[in-house]
Amino acid sequence: MITILDQDFSQLNQFLSERTFSKIFILVDENTHEYCLPILLGNLETETAIEILEVEPGEEMKNIQTANQLWEILTEMQADRKALMINLGGGVITDMGGFVASTYKRGIQFINIPTTLLSICDASIGGKTGIDLMNYKNMVGTFAFPEQIFAYPRFLDTLPAKELKSGFAEMLKHGLIADKKHWDDLILLQHLDAVGIEPYIKQSMEIKQEVVHGDFHEKNVRKTLNFGHTIGHAIESLCLSTGNLILHGEAVAMGMICEAHLSYLEGLISEEDSELIIEQIARYFCYIDITDFKEEDIFSLLLNDKKNADAKINFSLLNGIGSCVFDQQCTTENIQKSLNYYKKLSGF
Ligand SMILES: NC(=O)c1ccc[n+]([C@@H]2O[C@H](COP(=O)([O-])OP(=O)(O)OC[C@H]3O[C@@H](n4cnc5c(N)ncnc54)[C@H](O)[C@@H]3O)[C@@H](O)[C@H]2O)c1
Ligand SMILES: [Zn+2]
Repeated sequence: MITILDQDFSQLNQFLSERTFSKIFILVDENTHEYCLPILLGNLETETAIEILEVEPGEEMKNIQTANQLWEILTEMQADRKALMINLGGGVITDMGGFVASTYKRGIQFINIPTTLLSICDASIGGKTGIDLMNYKNMVGTFAFPEQIFAYPRFLDTLPAKELKSGFAEMLKHGLIADKKHWDDLILLQHLDAVGIEPYIKQSMEIKQEVVHGDFHEKNVRKTLNFGHTIGHAIESLCLSTGNLILHGEAVAMGMICEAHLSYLEGLISEEDSELIIEQIARYFCYIDITDFKEEDIFSLLLNDKKNADAKINFSLLNGIGSCVFDQQCTTENIQKSLNYYKKLSGF
């Protein structure tokens, strides 16, 4: 299911040669068109006709209008049920391309070739596809697995450093929730660059895949992937509404700091472990200024989180480095304390 491509993309060519497709549609955004498509096309060996579908880059494009345009283009180009969609891009492309493919004519086959660190280690794996609706992220979507995920770490050479760091937050999370060795390996990295991160990519992809495999529909263990995301999502939304455009991974790093401290306050990990985790995350990520956010706004967002049930805020918290428990309902006092702890650390 997950394959790290070699330099001549032989595994992808083998995959294509073993199957018959009526046409191949490659979905790209402007950036992956420029940086990744020439590499893919230069290595692709197939007799099947190829069409390129391009959308503008960015989360703003992950909506029903773009999906509709793609369905229309597929129809105009007479894509039938034997067509293959190749999603070549970051999480926006793999989410939206997966959604369009899994709904067009009740579903055509698709493969993901993720090109950002976040999509390689996270978004392309797990079978969640979707688009945003109004201001709500991933409101409409499907559970649909790609036929294969082909990762080519050299695509990261052109990825902006900020985007690379954003994906690194999810890798750190994978180590913290499920694999202490992965965490230990990652925190030894002095500089975050594509070459340094490459040896750990497969490990991180496998952790996500294994967690998802155990709980496809997020009834239990898959919830552990939400560590750092409860507070992280609330802050991400507040930053968006005030025009402070932070990346998802930056919000997750912030959320992991708060939720590591919360894990300590709830008696799940030692103070020493929580401080070690926080110190390491803070080495890579700048603090976000949350001093202007009202506590009631943060709590209102926390209460609205998709993961909640029965009007209670559900957290996934650490009960060790490399171990995570889900459905943890914390006291309001401890949540407040963790936010204040972050504010104090950040020094804003
Ligand atoms: N389905 C899931 O389980 C899941 C999990 C996590 C995140 N997501 C989704 O993923 C999305 C975020 O993904 P993302 O961070 O990859 O964003 P993205 O797809 O917007 O990519 C970030 C930017 O990098 C550019 N880019 C991509 N590859 C490049 C390359 N190799 N070189 C240069 N530029 C490149 C893109 O054009 C874009 O401007 C969100 O929509 C989020 O909801 C989904
Ligand atoms: Zn995330």
